[in-house]
Amino acid sequence: MRLLKTGAFVRAAQAAKFSVPSCSRIPISSPVTVPSRWASSQAQAQASPDEQPFPEQSVNLVNEVDPAKTAAASSQSGDHARFEKKLQELDLGNEIIRENGQSGAKILGAPYIFDQTSNLSSSILDLVGRNLYDHPDHPICITRKLIESCFEEPTYKHFAMGNPVVTVRDNFDVLGFPADHPGRSRTDTYYVNSTHLLRTHTSAHQNAAFQWLANNPSSKGYTICADVYRRDSIDRSHFPVFHQMEGARVWEAQRNRAAQIERNCEEMPKTGLVVEDQATDFTGTANPLQPEHNPDEVYQVARHLKLSLEYLVSRIFEASRQSLPSAARTDAPMQARWIEAYFPFTSPSFELEVLWHGGEWLELLGCGVVKQGILNKAGLNDHISWAWGVGIERFAMLLFGIPDIRLFWSTDPRFLKQFTRGKITKFEPFSKYPACYKDIAFWIKPVPSASSPLGSQSAHTTSGVAAAAGGDATKASPAETQPAAFHENDIMEVVRDVAGSLVEDVKLVDEFVHPTTGRKSLCYRINYRSLERTLTNEEVNGLHEEVGRRMKDLFGVELR
Ligand code: DAH
Repeated sequence: MRLLKTGAFVRAAQAAKFSVPSCSRIPISSPVTVPSRWASSQAQAQASPDEQPFPEQSVNLVNEVDPAKTAAASSQSGDHARFEKKLQELDLGNEIIRENGQSGAKILGAPYIFDQTSNLSSSILDLVGRNLYDHPDHPICITRKLIESCFEEPTYKHFAMGNPVVTVRDNFDVLGFPADHPGRSRTDTYYVNSTHLLRTHTSAHQNAAFQWLANNPSSKGYTICADVYRRDSIDRSHFPVFHQMEGARVWEAQRNRAAQIERNCEEMPKTGLVVEDQATDFTGTANPLQPEHNPDEVYQVARHLKLSLEYLVSRIFEASRQSLPSAARTDAPMQARWIEAYFPFTSPSFELEVLWHGGEWLELLGCGVVKQGILNKAGLNDHISWAWGVGIERFAMLLFGIPDIRLFWSTDPRFLKQFTRGKITKFEPFSKYPACYKDIAFWIKPVPSASSPLGSQSAHTTSGVAAAAGGDATKASPAETQPAAFHENDIMEVVRDVAGSLVEDVKLVDEFVHPTTGRKSLCYRINYRSLERTLTNEEVNGLHEEVGRRMKDLFGVELR
C-alpha cells in the first residue's frame, strides 16, 4: 500500500538525521479566522453538555508569499484585492479562476490565491466535497462504520473532517516531517499555495484532535475519517483521492500507569488471529522507544495498540467471511504479522500485514507510540498515546470484492444500488467494457524544471519506498540520470485532467537513452476503459491527442 511502505525510508531518514523546517510566513492580507471544520461525525457525535467545542483554527485563508515576492505583490495590491474579492464572490462550486496574470480557487466556499507552489487542477477540485464517507449506503461509509464500531464510545469519539484544505504546518511540520521528505514534493502533493495543501493524510488533524482530547478529558481517544489527496500513478488500486481513518488512545499521568494499561489490555476482546510479532524489541536504534518514556509503559502501550488493531482486523476478516456463500467459507484462521516501520510522528512504529483468505501478505496499516513532542504541543503533557492510520479503500476493496478503485466514485445506480448500510455484500460486476490501449512516446526535455520545492529529491530513490503521507521515492523520476525535467506523476496528472476516470491504468512500457545524444525517451501505455460504457474510437483518439498536446505544452516533451 502506497501509504505505508516505509522500511527503506527509515534507514535513509535515520542516516540523514533530518531537521524540521520552520515556516517563513508573511501574510499579505489580514488573517481570517474560520470556525474549525472539526465537525463531528453527524451520525455518531452528539456533543454532550460538558464537552468543549473543537479548537478554532486560526488560518490565513489567503495567500502568504515568500519575502522575495512581497515587493511585487504590494505594487499590485489594488489588483490583488480586486481579485481576492472576485474569488470571494464566486458561488459555491469549487472553481479555479485566472485573470490578468493572477489565479486562484474557491474551495468549499473559501478563496485562495495561487502562487508559484500551486498545482491544483479542476479535475481534482471536482472531487472535493463529495464526502463519500457520509453516505450511509456507500461502501466507504459502511467500512468506516465497521471500523468505528471497533473503537467504542465513550472511550473513543468519532470525527469526520469535511474540508481537505489544511496548512503545510499541520500536514507535515507539526508531525516532524523532514524538510526533504518526498511526500512534500509538488510532484506528489496537491498544493493550494505555499502554505496550504489538500491533506495527504488524516494525520494532518492529529494536532487538533489531541488538543480536543486535552479539553475533553472524559474521552480517551478518537477516530478521524476523511478524504485525502495524493498525486500518484493511475491503476486499479490508486486514485488521486482516497479515504483514510486515523485513531489514537491516550492515558493520562497516574500512579502505576503501566499496570493500568495492562489491565486495559486484559479487557480487550480475544481474537482468533494467528499472529507473529517481529517487532518487539525497542532497545536498539532500529525502532527505539523515546528517551522520555518509561519502558514498562511503552511495552504496555504497544501491546494495547497491537491488540486493538488485531481486533479491528479480525472483525473485518469475519465480516468478509460472513459475506461469502457458506460453501466458500473456510474455518482457517487469519494469519497476521507485525513488522517494524518508520513514521516521523511515532516511535516505536509498526505495520500490520495479513494473509487475506490464504492469498499474499498484504500491508494493512501503520501505527506506533506517538512522539511525546506532539502530545506536549497539544497540551497533553505527561500523557502517553498510541496512534494508527489505515486506508479505507484497501479494506473496502477486500470486504466488498471491488476490483477497481474508480468504482467508489461511480454514480451509476448499477454500482450504488448494490450496497446497504450495515451490510457487507460482494460486488457483482455489471459488465466489463472493452479496453483501448494507446501508446505515447516522447523525448524528455533535458533541462531541470523548478517543479520541486525540495530541490533535489533523488536522495531517497531507494527502491520500494512509498513513504508515509505520500511521496513514493521509487518514482522520483524515471530519468534520474537527467535533471528532473519530468516526473512520472506529471503524465498521470495530465491523463487524469484530460480523461478523468475513463483511464484504467497508465504504465511505462519502454525507456531508453539515445547512445549519441544522451537524450532519454519514454513510452507510456494508456489503457482507456470506462467502467460504465463502451468508448468510441473517435472519443479515445480525441482524448489521446489532447494528452500529447498538453505534455508538449506543459513539459516541453518532444513527441515521437
Ligand atoms: N499517516 C500515515 C500515512 O498516511 C499513516 C499513519 C501511520 C498514521 C502511523 C498514524 C500512525 O497515526 O501512527 O502513511
